[in-house]
Amino acid sequence: MNILVGAAELAPFAKVGGLADVVAALARQWAAMGHRVLVVLPKYRMIDASGWGFQPIEPSVAVPMGQTVEYARLWLGTLPQSAARVCLLDAPHYFDREGIYGNPEGYPDNDRRYIFLSRALLELAQVLGFSPDILHVHDYHTAVAAELLRRFYRQTPQFYKTASVLTVHNVAFQGISDPARVLPLLGIPWEEFYPGALWEYYGAVNLLKVGILTADKLSTVSPSYAWEIRHTALGEGLQGVFSVRGADLVGILNGVDYEEWSPERDRYLPVPYSAEFLAGKELNKQRLLTEWAGLPEAEAQAPVPLLGMVTRLTDQKGIDLLLHVLEPLVQRLAVRFALLGSGAGPYENFFRYLASRYSPQVFVYIGYNESLAHRIIAAADFLLMPSRYEPCGLTQMYALRYGTIPIVRAVGGLRDTVRDYDPISGTGWGFCFADYTPEALFGTVQYALSFYRAEPHWERLRRNAMACDFSIRRSAEQYLQLFEWALEKVRAERA
Ligand code: ADP
Ligand code: GLC
Repeated sequence: MNILVGAAELAPFAKVGGLADVVAALARQWAAMGHRVLVVLPKYRMIDASGWGFQPIEPSVAVPMGQTVEYARLWLGTLPQSAARVCLLDAPHYFDREGIYGNPEGYPDNDRRYIFLSRALLELAQVLGFSPDILHVHDYHTAVAAELLRRFYRQTPQFYKTASVLTVHNVAFQGISDPARVLPLLGIPWEEFYPGALWEYYGAVNLLKVGILTADKLSTVSPSYAWEIRHTALGEGLQGVFSVRGADLVGILNGVDYEEWSPERDRYLPVPYSAEFLAGKELNKQRLLTEWAGLPEAEAQAPVPLLGMVTRLTDQKGIDLLLHVLEPLVQRLAVRFALLGSGAGPYENFFRYLASRYSPQVFVYIGYNESLAHRIIAAADFLLMPSRYEPCGLTQMYALRYGTIPIVRAVGGLRDTVRDYDPISGTGWGFCFADYTPEALFGTVQYALSFYRAEPHWERLRRNAMACDFSIRRSAEQYLQLFEWALEKVRAERA
């Protein structure tokens, strides 16, 4: 199959969260299965294109934006260790800026930036002579390309058989914009903007809604989230829209690229380890505690549980629960706590305060750091993920492979990947709580800690965790099945 992918993030070039990991892992997996994959990503300032081996090509791409045409240069390269091709869209006035989306509020012209990306996807495929069977778009950033394909490119021979698939990673971001700004850019006449229309959403334009209603097939990143967005407030106002497309919507659990995330061959770890060599995990913990937290060797070896977190610091991740729970945990249960994260200012400040007050029991790194992410996940005994909502979550799946026991709120993909440990049967590999309250979180951490180094449970828990298989291969195959359904649908409509 020829698969054209459009996304706002792609690891290792540009990453804020799991979207980057999943888009890269799928592309790599499909390419390894023999499919032709082209992923299109904006050329953000942070990407060292030449350093990654990208080459600029001629000609550039002409992108219709309303009454005018804007141009972008194209750079071609591949994903590291993969045959999947990557095209960087070089439009400095949109993308040569700090960060990806612009923190903390987002750039005021994000609608325009991502409409440009969406339209460029369809134009540059023609420049490159890439004839896709599938146009796979992700989140609001490229969702509207599904409708642009249907509306403006159906007669283009290159797209005659192309089916579109939209994957929703996070419904909280919808691309809601002023119609006066974006309708002209998209080439949509005002007559099509009226209550209840595709283009209308409470007096605004909602790019995600347009994608949901017009993509041939839809997916989201876990079965539970697929249900939650249709039936609960986690649909963020789009419950009805998702339900209209209920028959075309599936939940495909994200997967892990175990080439990147395996303790046996993780290039960031001082000591590689496996389920047969769990002493190696302990050594990683000691190294983290001495090198990062500055603990003396003897203290680092003490049997004190280490709770870890690697996360965006946003409301989604349940940080407000931690504001209530962390101090009592550290004071009363004498745990150590390590956090790597960045995000909302007040949350960052809380963790800075905690680190200064409870050093060296608590250590915190505010910022983004790939190597430290791997090292914390390997070193921690438990990983905390008390999310308010979680479309899938990758960090808990990484943690499992590293024998790090997840303590999670049972929601979305966390519910689908973490099974409660049952001390009687010795099954399960984590600890879950349901109520979004500090008490539920505290109680569950306390219960989980009772198994720390308590044999036979501790060993069994870690072995069960490490035996979980959430490989990206399974997800990649499920997407291919969905792509087949999308193609059948398009064929049927054309016949
Ligand atoms: P989300 O996409 O909602 O942020 P996921 O669990 O799906 O949550 O993915 C988060 C990804 O981002 C993981 O790969 C995690 O290691 C990474 N990550 C999050 N924060 C940081 C950080 N501060 N430094 C390095 N990696 C981070
Ligand atoms: C989003 C979600 C996260 C998911 C990731 C990749 O960022 O918040 O739960 O794992 O996308 O699909």
